[in-house]
This record gives sequence, structure tokens and C-alpha cells, in this order.
Amino acid sequence: MEKRIVILGFESSCDETAVSLVVDGRKVLSDVVASQIDQHRRYGGVVPELASRAHVEAVNTVLADALAQSGIKRDEISAVAVTHQPGLIGSLLVGLMAAKTTAWLLGVPLIGVNHVCAHAYAAALDDEPINYPAVALVCSGGHTSLYHLQSPTKMELLGSTIDDAAGEAYDKVASILHLGFPGGPVIDRAARRGNGHAVDFPRTLLKGQSLDFSFSGIKTAVLYHVNGVPNAKTDNGHAKGIENFSSQEVDDIAASFQDAVTDILTIKMRRAAKITGARTLILGGGVAANSGLREKAQKVADKIGCTLRRPPMKYCTDNAAMIAGLGYHLLLAGQIADLRLSATPTVRI
Ligand code: KG4
Ligand code: ZN
Repeated sequence: MEKRIVILGFESSCDETAVSLVVDGRKVLSDVVASQIDQHRRYGGVVPELASRAHVEAVNTVLADALAQSGIKRDEISAVAVTHQPGLIGSLLVGLMAAKTTAWLLGVPLIGVNHVCAHAYAAALDDEPINYPAVALVCSGGHTSLYHLQSPTKMELLGSTIDDAAGEAYDKVASILHLGFPGGPVIDRAARRGNGHAVDFPRTLLKGQSLDFSFSGIKTAVLYHVNGVPNAKTDNGHAKGIENFSSQEVDDIAASFQDAVTDILTIKMRRAAKITGARTLILGGGVAANSGLREKAQKVADKIGCTLRRPPMKYCTDNAAMIAGLGYHLLLAGQIADLRLSATPTVRI
């Protein structure tokens, strides 16, 4: 029997401290995630300094739990993979130091993983291998990008947002609607109760066959719908301010916003499939947990005869299984780092 390859993965790029053990790139043995959401909620967003401190406090326990749950002995670990870009610099450094120390202690290779590429790989976890070439739409709190992939490790950027990320737009609109933080899940729930055709928000598609995205216009459109257009003589018939909207009207705004955002995302995904000829579509990132996007993307894939790969919810949002999973392919490709590996907050593939 061939020796199985076990990768230990670390993720700490934003507000989740996560450690996972994955066999042969797809079989997840353990996937422990410590979320800091409760510590950031009162500020309505992630506070970087709080995030890095919370990572320091959590990382040892999360590592111990992940090792214990996996049943793996230390000498069975083949390599340590870690998110080293992009992300909050203080947060990245905590996971990176933990991973370097562990790799050095175990005497195994260290692998640097790009967080966004790992989101594009997450759909393979606990599932069949992905058929390449593929088009991946990665949309999260910090990114909204389309990629053309030839393999898990070879990806080319097709387009990305020129302003807000989709998740960021969700978070900001949730704040305008006083629905709480993080915005994605709360808007998704409200949208299921509302009418997506109630308000006609703009679908910003940019010029020609552009595969770039823009979400600042729709965010402003929601703001004006709720608070009125500054200096305008007429408004939408409402007194200004969210307190003057009924809960049904708020749900309708959420549903209409979600309908517009998921239209934009899936139209671009379809365009990318057409331009590249890829037969596999992949969703990834926190916004890929969105019920409206998952349904609409499936409809588009069926219509154009493509296979859609959607990760289960737990692998959409930040986790270390996707880091260990992609780390396996980087190890096979010989893309190994050393203990000088540095953290990079922003990176464009
Ligand atoms: O991938 P992720 O966990 O972290 C980043 O790498 O940014 O994504 C977090 C983002 C947040 O903006 C959150 O509001 C959004 O994903 N999100 C969702 C849903 N669940 C999380 N957006 C829309 N619908 C959801 N169900
Ligand atoms: Zn992410």
C-alpha cells in the first residue's frame, strides 16, 4: 500500500484561528476553527489588533484539539502548510510563526499557501477530485475574483473587484439595514423571507465582456433607498431612516440586494466559462455559503452544461482544511518554502 501523505494546515489570515489535518489532499481528518466573531461584533467589523491577540491566545489549543481529533501521530505528518498571504499582517504572522515552529520541531517541510487559491480548492475536500480546467469564483469578505485554473496550483486571474468585495458589500448593507454583523448570514436569512423583485437595485456589469466586478454602486443604492438621496427633491415615498421601514420591507430590501448581487456574480461566472471554454465551475469563499448564490450558480451551470463544485458551508468560510488540502498539491509540485517564509498582507495573482 502506498504511504498516505498527511498535511497539517494552519489558517489565521483574518478572524478565524484554524488547524486541520488532511490526508492526500482531500480526506479531512480534523478541522478545528476558533471563531472570534463575538469579540468583533460590538465594533461592527474585524479589529485587526484584537484579531492578532485572539489568534495568539487560541492557536495552541486549536492545534492540540486538531491533533487529538485526527488520531494522527506526530511522526506521520509529512509537511506543514500555512496561509502566508493575503490577510491582516498581525494575524498572518501568528499562524506563520506557529507553523514554522511546528515544521522545525517535526523536521518536515514548510509550505506557504495563498488563502484565495485555497478557497478555490475547498470544493475538493471530502469529495471527488476537481476536473480541470475550471473557472473559480472566489468571493469573501476581502476578495471577489474570477480565476481560470489548469490545476489546483496553476491559476490565472480573469477579473476582480475594482472596489468593494461582495462580502464587504453584504457587511455594509447589513449595517445600513441594522441587521448586525457579519452581514452575509443575516442578509441571507432576511432575503429568504423577502421579495427579491421589490426594489430594482442596479446590476453593475462594467463595459463589454469585462470580468471585473463593482459593488460600491449597489451599496450606495441601498443607502439612498433607506436614507434618501442627498439633496434630492423626491424620494421613494418613505420618511428617511431605517426605523421607518417595516420588518417586511427590510426583508424585501435584503432580498432585492441579494438578487442583484447574485445576478452580477453568476453573469460574470457564465461569461468566464464562455471565454475560457472550461467545463467545471467552482464556488469558494464565505459568500459561496450564500443560499441564493448557490441556487443561481447551479441553474447557470445546468443551463450551460457545466459541472458546478460547491463546497459544503464549513469549507466556504475560513478553515485550515483548504490550506492543508492545497498544501498537499504544492508539496507534490515541489513548491516548498523554508523558515524564512514571510507574510504578505496584499497580493495579486
Ligand atoms: O472567506 P471568509 O470566511 O473570510 C474572508 O476570507 O474574507 O468570508 C467572510 C465573508 C463575510 O463578509 C461574510 O459576511 C460573508 O463571507 N458570508 C456570506 C455568507 N456567509 C458568510 N455572505 C453571503 N451569504 C452568506 N450566507
Ligand atoms: Zn477567506
